Amino acid sequence: MDVVHTAADLRARVSAWRRAGARIGFVPTMGNLHAGHLSLVELAREHAENVVASVFVNPTQFGPNEDFTSYPRTLDADRASLAAHGCNVLFAPSVDEMYPYGAAQTVRVEVPQIVETLEGALRPGHFSGVATVVTKLFNLVQPDVAVFGQKDYQQLLVVRRMTKDLCLPIEIVAAPIVREANGLAMSSRNQYLSSEERERAGVIYRTLCAMREQWNAGRPIAAIESDARAVLEAAGSIPDYATIRRAADLSVPDLSGRHGAIALIATRMGRARLIDNLLLAH
Ligand code: PAJ
Repeated sequence: MDVVHTAADLRARVSAWRRAGARIGFVPTMGNLHAGHLSLVELAREHAENVVASVFVNPTQFGPNEDFTSYPRTLDADRASLAAHGCNVLFAPSVDEMYPYGAAQTVRVEVPQIVETLEGALRPGHFSGVATVVTKLFNLVQPDVAVFGQKDYQQLLVVRRMTKDLCLPIEIVAAPIVREANGLAMSSRNQYLSSEERERAGVIYRTLCAMREQWNAGRPIAAIESDARAVLEAAGSIPDYATIRRAADLSVPDLSGRHGAIALIATRMGRARLIDNLLLAH
């Protein structure tokens, strides 16, 4: 596996593949890789002969009081894991390489509607930063297919919307959520948890499963949501939301349609803010 740090080196690799007519798969990450990220690399390999992964902690998607500075940076370990999982090129640019005019002065990509709720409402500017860096990375890598985790469900919708609306010829593939034995969705931010908190955080997935069961039994959404919040609070976490939405656009489902819904949770446990979701029966 090659490691490249500049746009010029990446372009040289990519154009050689293009000339040879080989498909390119892409997995963007912020590093500190775990089994969830690596499952994305494996999925990308199923779709393309060549796989590029990026490791870039993107400053424009962090709010002023978020963890940009303390976000775990583990490039040596990430390089070894990616090589072991069949990645061909690791792109690990500097902030200057990605933002030649500075992060604050970058041209930004704004995605409407879908960003107005949930994570977008709680983290102003976050999805603009994601859409901006993903567009830049797409332009550099020029992949045929890019893989994103369902774990960040709203991000997946933002990327799909952006790709279609900007007419980018890239297939967006969604990868299932990889979990710990107790159901906790794997996340780089899980390492902010003590081992006791990590065990207790299994409540998130259990709550999502309970929400699905109640949804299938026809219980009203408001009752499902308030019970879910109570369970999360009883387990010592502080929920930002525990909600049921339409899977297509995260709007609030009306009474007629119980199809295509998703349960989503964001909750604070110790130093970590954890998100997870579960698609509900069709
Ligand atoms: P990051 O949080 O590093 O996640 C990179 C990719 O891994 C995302 O598509 C995310 O949904 C996926 N992922 C994370 N945990 C997962 C799990 N437990 N199971 C399956 N997939 C999982 O998301 C980002 O980085 C950034 O916003 C990025 C898209 C790279 C733009 O900066």
